[in-house]
Amino acid sequence: MAQNPDFETLDPANWEEMRRLAHRIMDDALDYIRSARERPVWRPVPADVATRLTAPAPARPSDPAAVYEEFKRDIMAYPMNTTHPRFWAWYMGSGTVMGALADLLASTLNPNLGGANHVAPLVEKQVVGWIRDMVGFPADSSGLLTSGASMANFTALTVARNANCGYDVRRQGVRAAPGPLTAYASSEIHSCNQKAVETLGLGSDGLRRIPARDDYTLDLVALERQVAADRAAGRLPFCVIATAGTINTGAIDDMHAIADFCAREGLWFHVDGAIGAVAVLADNVRASLAGMERADSIALDLHKWMHIPFEAGCVIVRDAAAHRDSFALVPEYLQREDEGRGMASGSLWFSDYGLQLTRQFRALKVWMSIKEHGLERFGRMIARNWRQAQYLGRLIEGADGLELMAPIGLDIVCFRFNPGGPAGAADLEALNRLNQDILVELQESGVAAPSYTTLQGAYCLRVAISNHRSRFEDFDLLVAEVLRIGKGLL
Ligand SMILES: Cc1ncc(COP(=O)(O)O)c(C=O)c1O
Repeated sequence: MAQNPDFETLDPANWEEMRRLAHRIMDDALDYIRSARERPVWRPVPADVATRLTAPAPARPSDPAAVYEEFKRDIMAYPMNTTHPRFWAWYMGSGTVMGALADLLASTLNPNLGGANHVAPLVEKQVVGWIRDMVGFPADSSGLLTSGASMANFTALTVARNANCGYDVRRQGVRAAPGPLTAYASSEIHSCNQKAVETLGLGSDGLRRIPARDDYTLDLVALERQVAADRAAGRLPFCVIATAGTINTGAIDDMHAIADFCAREGLWFHVDGAIGAVAVLADNVRASLAGMERADSIALDLHKWMHIPFEAGCVIVRDAAAHRDSFALVPEYLQREDEGRGMASGSLWFSDYGLQLTRQFRALKVWMSIKEHGLERFGRMIARNWRQAQYLGRLIEGADGLELMAPIGLDIVCFRFNPGGPAGAADLEALNRLNQDILVELQESGVAAPSYTTLQGAYCLRVAISNHRSRFEDFDLLVAEVLRIGKGLL
């Protein structure tokens, strides 16, 4: 398609052709989600596709329809497939149709959510308010949407460090601390928190990983002992990170006990609720999260158990001033008129509350998805996944040759094929290899995609059921396939 020779832009050369292409894209997109169950859950990327994806950037234009055909052939055919009802790997959400449409609309309006006087920041403020209320934080708390829980945890831990180190760390840096600043968590903590602590200049030694109890939760007795020993040795404890739903097994730390401990010790109480915080919406989980609302800050993901298309996380901080003090830095060209007129007026600048200046309109997909479905429906989806985890646990316990490897926390089930049974003296190495082979065969068969973890040296198949499309019979199929593949490999 030739551009207007008089005035070239990036707009379509032919709007009507682009409209037809856009309609086709929309039809294909909806069909793709609707027919997710009919496709294999995973297919490896063929070598020729991978090779094509190393080609240099084209210098000249292409026909938009040809670009789309290339997308369909090389990209759409080999996705991660989180939309599939038997995708249970790592910990992902399955997306919402409205969320996908909202992403298109957000890119259509293309606002910058760093700040300024326009409507989009009001949408983000409303969404953050909904989440703040959902997790039980006070109305004057601050918050912002982030790319995910990694950035949400990083943001909260920055505030925790700055607010609780006793001097102006923004000006003087961590080298001025009278002792090593130290945060505490169970050994089951997600790795992003260690990355955050390292990035904050505290070193990985700045995060004490207290060996978890048998149920994979934080050991309060060991925590208390470690904090006392560290204080005696001149370290500066500043924060405890509790986890609401650990990545390995879905364990939930004892929130009230940690809140009490932090209050006694003058420590910042942060909750990594990436997985589990939104489960306050579910009647059958809510009680196990009690005390989370007492935290100083909480990080959570909306792209996990609330299924908002990637990326969507959120951080909420009880002390809004401490939050702002950690990030606000307004250069000349961004000076604002708090009470004045014009586009730079208003005080709603999310760039004051996080690292990013330019920010995408991710709030729209959250806003439209929550409006469409309502929080109660999200709660029912979460509650069903919890029941499905219990159901899978019962199937495993009732199957000859399968072994449940950890208490089922939330919606995460860890198990393995063990033909000798728990009491059988099968060699651990051999069992680990056998289960690795089972997982790869299962994924390559395209039937189901769990992932894995290692618990006390034992390789486990790990099924994270944050999927609003999974049916109970999908778990019957999973168990039958694991047994079939396992027996075939013996
Ligand atoms: C407990 C926990 N915290 C943090 C994260 C990181 O979240 P994200 O991948 O959204 O950055 C995860 C990811 O799985 C997680 O499970």
